[in-house]
Amino acid sequence: MAGICNGRVVIVTGAGRGLGRAHALAFAAEGAQVVVNDLGVGLDGAGGSAGPAATVADEIRALGGEAVANGDDIATAEGARGLVATALDAFGHLDTLVNNAGFLRDRMLVNLDEDDWDAVIRVHLKGHFLPLKYAAAHWRAETKAGRAADARIVNTSSGAGLLGSVGQGNYSAAKAGIIGLTLVAAAELARYGVRVNAIAPAARTRMTEQAFAATMAAPVDGTFDAMAPENVSPLVVWLGCAASSAVTGRVFEAEAGRITVMEGWRPGPTADRGIRWTAAEAGETALKLLAAAEPPRGAYGAE
Ligand SMILES: NC(=O)c1ccc[n+]([C@@H]2O[C@H](COP(=O)([O-])OP(=O)(O)OC[C@H]3O[C@@H](n4cnc5c(N)ncnc54)[C@H](O)[C@@H]3O)[C@@H](O)[C@H]2O)c1
Repeated sequence: MAGICNGRVVIVTGAGRGLGRAHALAFAAEGAQVVVNDLGVGLDGAGGSAGPAATVADEIRALGGEAVANGDDIATAEGARGLVATALDAFGHLDTLVNNAGFLRDRMLVNLDEDDWDAVIRVHLKGHFLPLKYAAAHWRAETKAGRAADARIVNTSSGAGLLGSVGQGNYSAAKAGIIGLTLVAAAELARYGVRVNAIAPAARTRMTEQAFAATMAAPVDGTFDAMAPENVSPLVVWLGCAASSAVTGRVFEAEAGRITVMEGWRPGPTADRGIRWTAAEAGETALKLLAAAEPPRGAYGAE
C-alpha cells in the first residue's frame, strides 16, 4: 500500500467503527502505518471491548497495510500517554494524530443529567485535549533534540458545535470547545512544526443511522452512496499528510462529495460611542446593529 502518506505514522482514535475506521483504512491505503485506537464502548459510552480496534487492525493487515490496535481510553492521561507510546514503540515515530473518538447522551437541556453532561464533555473535549497534549509534548521534545517535526493533528467537531443542535446541549458545547482548542493548538504548536485543523463530518454510522435514517440511507440502485463514512476520509488523510503544510487553524465541513471551508466568528456591524452606554441606549444600538447584521442560520432541529 503506497500513496501520499508513505512513511507516516498515524494515530486514529475511535477507529474501531464508523468514521474512525474509514479514516484508518484510508490512511493505510495511502501508505501510512496506523495505530487503531478504540475502547469499544456502546453508543452511550457504556461497556468496553478490545474487539473493534483489533478487527480494524486485522483488516488493514489483511489488505497488506501496517497497523497495531490500541484499547486505551483517550479521555484519561494514562490512556492518552499510552496511546502515544504505542505509536512510538510499534513504529519508532509519530507524525499525525486524528482525534475522532466519542459518544452521545442526547437529552433536552431540562432533562440532561449532570452525569450525561460530564460524560460527553469528557470524552469529546478532554478526549481531544489529552492525546493532543501528549503528542505535542513528543513533537516539542523532537524539535528540541534537533529533529524538526512535520506533524499534523486533525480534530473532529460537528455541525452541532458550529451551529448548535436541539437535544444535544452537552455534545454541541463539547464540539464547539473543540474548535477553540483547535485554534489555540494551531497557534501554540506551529513553532514545533505541527499543523492543527478540524473537520465537521456527516456520515452514516451507528451515531446517525437511526436518528437520521432517511438522510443516511444507502441507495439501492448502485448510485453514489453519499453518506458512506469513507467519503469523509480523503480530506482527513490529506490534512494528516505532509502536503497540507500550508493549512492550519481551519475548519472544514466534509460529507458526501462536498468539502466546505467554514468561516468562523468575525466582527460584524459595530458602534463605538467612546463613553459608556446606558442600558436603554445599548439595547437600541444592539437592535440597529442586528438589523444590519447577517441573520444567524439557527440550530439544527430548531423550529
Ligand atoms: N456520524 C456523523 O454524522 C457525525 C457527525 C458529526 C460529528 N461526528 C463525530 O465523528 C466522530 C466519530 O463518530 P462516528 O459517527 O464514527 O461514531 P461511532 O460510534 O461509529 O464511532 C466512535 C468510536 O469511538 C469509540 N470511543 C468512544 N469513547 C472512546 C474512548 N474514551 N476512547 C477510545 N475510543 C472511544 C467508540 O467505541 C466507537 O467505536 C465522533 O467524534 C462524532 O461525534 C460524527
